[in-house]
Amino acid sequence: MKYAYIFNYREMDQMLFALECKHLFGVELDEKVLISDVDVSGEHSPFMHEKMTILAKSDHPDGLVDEVEKLYLESDVYKVIFLGKRTNVDYDLQLSLCKRCGNAIEGDFSLYEPKILYGIIHHKGMWYFGLAEKMEKRWLKHQNKPHSYTYSLPVRLARVAISLAGRNDRSRTLIDPCCGVGTVVLEGLHLGYDIKGIEMNPPIASDANKNCAYYGYPEVITCMDMTVSDEHADCAILDIPYGVMENVDDQTQKKLLAGCRKMANELVLFSVEPMEKMLEETGWNIEAQVPFVKQQFVRYITVCRGQNQQK
Ligand SMILES: C[S@@+](CC[C@H](N)C(=O)[O-])C[C@H]1O[C@@H](n2cnc3c(N)ncnc32)[C@H](O)[C@@H]1O
Repeated sequence: MKYAYIFNYREMDQMLFALECKHLFGVELDEKVLISDVDVSGEHSPFMHEKMTILAKSDHPDGLVDEVEKLYLESDVYKVIFLGKRTNVDYDLQLSLCKRCGNAIEGDFSLYEPKILYGIIHHKGMWYFGLAEKMEKRWLKHQNKPHSYTYSLPVRLARVAISLAGRNDRSRTLIDPCCGVGTVVLEGLHLGYDIKGIEMNPPIASDANKNCAYYGYPEVITCMDMTVSDEHADCAILDIPYGVMENVDDQTQKKLLAGCRKMANELVLFSVEPMEKMLEETGWNIEAQVPFVKQQFVRYITVCRGQNQQK
């Protein structure tokens, strides 16, 4: 089975998108359309806009209609749409192709209340037809979690953290050892990962568990000092404290990074500085680092592997 994905992102997020794409699909992508064998659940990437399971393809529009006819599709109430806002395909051709492919489908057509959405994509000279999904971004509900702090990570960025740490492999175990109100943990739980959180501050840990319960997820936050925890996971995700709530000096940050090294062989780090030296001193090699900037909010996202750890 092949899938077509259409992404949307601000040009300034291109590097972050490319890093996420590499971790989810195993490819470096510098454009907004991807045809891939990899089935990534539609809501995984915050940059994913549309997804299509490809049923037919051709190098010519007429050929695509022929291929769709050969599918003998019988469908519940359906609609056929052209995917990809930035397509340079002439609008009349888009409409006629949707109509011709639609005519090849057995069933009732509805413009406003279709139960099944079929899509057409034109990419690199090829025409694709398939089952389309428009992203509903249900995870955006986490933006209004009952307990939130001004220092919480943006939900979109938390989602990217899960992509970098989880890589679309639900057998991987994840941990956020300084989880605050659980922003990253919520995204991991929503995507079906085995993820836990640790938070040292009792009221904040309690709020994080209340956030989990509010959305019907298990309460997976433990209140303790992560530096003395004996938890293990495949990958730790650390939004390192930088002194907004408490005094955090270099020694404290070092202890937290070393604590992550004890817990996991891989790390996804959010920090306000690049921290190369400290990462090296605490047993981490940097595999990739990209900045994320949104107005006053600046973070470095660093993917690390434990020194002496093979890929
Ligand atoms: C930058 S905030 C994390 C915010 C979180 N990503 C969110 O979106 O809500 C860092 C958190 O680490 C917690 N923390 C600091 N030192 C810790 C330690 N040794 N063990 C566990 N949690 C710790 C702080 O109480 C704070 O809530």
